[in-house]
Amino acid sequence: MTENQTLTVRDNRTGEEYEIPILDGTIRAGDVGQIGRTDDEPGLAVYDPGFTNTASTRSAVTYIDGDRGILEYRGYPIEQLAEKSTYLEVAYLLIHGELPTKEQHDQWVHEITFHTFVHENLKSQLQGFRYDAHPMGMLLSSVGALSTFYPEARNIKDPDIRHEQIVRLIAKMPTLGAWSFRHAQGKPYVYPDNDLTYTENFLSMLFKMSEQKYDPDPRLAKALEVLFILHADHEQNCSTNAVRSVGSSQVDPYSAVSAGIAALYGPLHGGANEAVLKMLKRIGTVEKVPDFIEGVKNGDEKLMGFGHRVYKNYDPRATIIKKAVDDVFEVTGVNPLLKIAVELEKIALEDEYFVSRKLYPNVDFYSGLIYEALQFPPEMFTVLFAIPRTSGWLAQWLELVDDKEQKIARPKQIYTGGRQLDFVAASERWA
Ligand code: CMC
Repeated sequence: MTENQTLTVRDNRTGEEYEIPILDGTIRAGDVGQIGRTDDEPGLAVYDPGFTNTASTRSAVTYIDGDRGILEYRGYPIEQLAEKSTYLEVAYLLIHGELPTKEQHDQWVHEITFHTFVHENLKSQLQGFRYDAHPMGMLLSSVGALSTFYPEARNIKDPDIRHEQIVRLIAKMPTLGAWSFRHAQGKPYVYPDNDLTYTENFLSMLFKMSEQKYDPDPRLAKALEVLFILHADHEQNCSTNAVRSVGSSQVDPYSAVSAGIAALYGPLHGGANEAVLKMLKRIGTVEKVPDFIEGVKNGDEKLMGFGHRVYKNYDPRATIIKKAVDDVFEVTGVNPLLKIAVELEKIALEDEYFVSRKLYPNVDFYSGLIYEALQFPPEMFTVLFAIPRTSGWLAQWLELVDDKEQKIARPKQIYTGGRQLDFVAASERWA
């Protein structure tokens, strides 16, 4: 530690001074806890609901610079990965920390491809859901149920066992996601086709009907590949934090990942692209865009798909998705809502209200349009997010398991309730 890499704090309650080390731009909460600590009193704590300024871990998985609009997985810019890589190669990179050699890649793809089938009893479990069950609820419970099929997964200290569960999870997510989709449509579940690539096989399980072999459009498979790469990780967001928090109890990875799916199910995390679609439909025509923008500026509502807690510049994923929109519409025909979206973006990017608040399109602004063009109902949007995010969750989980600094997640609280009350039995209270 260099000499001036410290923080001097004077506790005005006691006049005492403390010198706290600064490491990696952070101070340790444990050091803060020394301030004002006596035999009778706990030391100072940090109050940070929502972890808005608290680092919960050291991580080498994903780097984000929100001001500059930079996103990198293991140091590689998202733009390059989206253009030149595949989802499975990116998943390998996230999990292993480096790009695979040809042999490693082929072995990885082989392993994932041959774990795509799920136990028939799990299929029966899915079939037991109500006809209109939300596919995300089905996915969440079936991933949790996987832990009962692979009880050895509890042995998280064994690297080989860990690896096998990681392969199984990445391999089976598209199968479970596609079956959840088919369920609501009353269509038979389609078994994986291991001759196809990861995204082609997913499309086959989603859309195959009576044909002998499903023939996916390579442009759609590629667009899905790009969307999967963009959604693979996003450092310590709500669902990743859920995976890490639950994983810190040393539970098996299926249970930890199902916690991540549960977090993603919530509208504040995985649901914004659905809100964008609803907004575009409500606006209805390009002519109504200026009035809508005026309403947003007057505080009537938000321009959904704009703004981000971290990105104060164009979300790099939005730029890439915008390009994928064109590719998908070439196959499916143009979604008329696209014109409204483009006009909204054009006006907003020039308008003082949005410019001064650094509000730019985020990943959700265009993704809903693609998903709708691919004939997914809005309830499937979060499932399409959860499938690729699984590799990111697992990379973060793996890092957690091997991190000697990590402990079971257990935040402090500021207690605001009553104390030392005298309990009066119900028979007396209600007499
Ligand atoms: N439309 C209009 N005004 C906005 C918007 C918006 N979409 N977003 C923020 N603002 C305004 C906000 O009203 C505030 O104005 P003022 O200073 O006058 O009070 C200012 O911009 C700062 O906003 P904030 O709410 O303090 O920003 P935040 O970082 O807490 O919120 C956000 C980030 C994403 C929740 C918010 O921008 C938002 O609600 N956007 C719309 C929903 C959306 O698109 N969500 C998807 C996010 S990307 C998902 C992911 O990465 O996983």
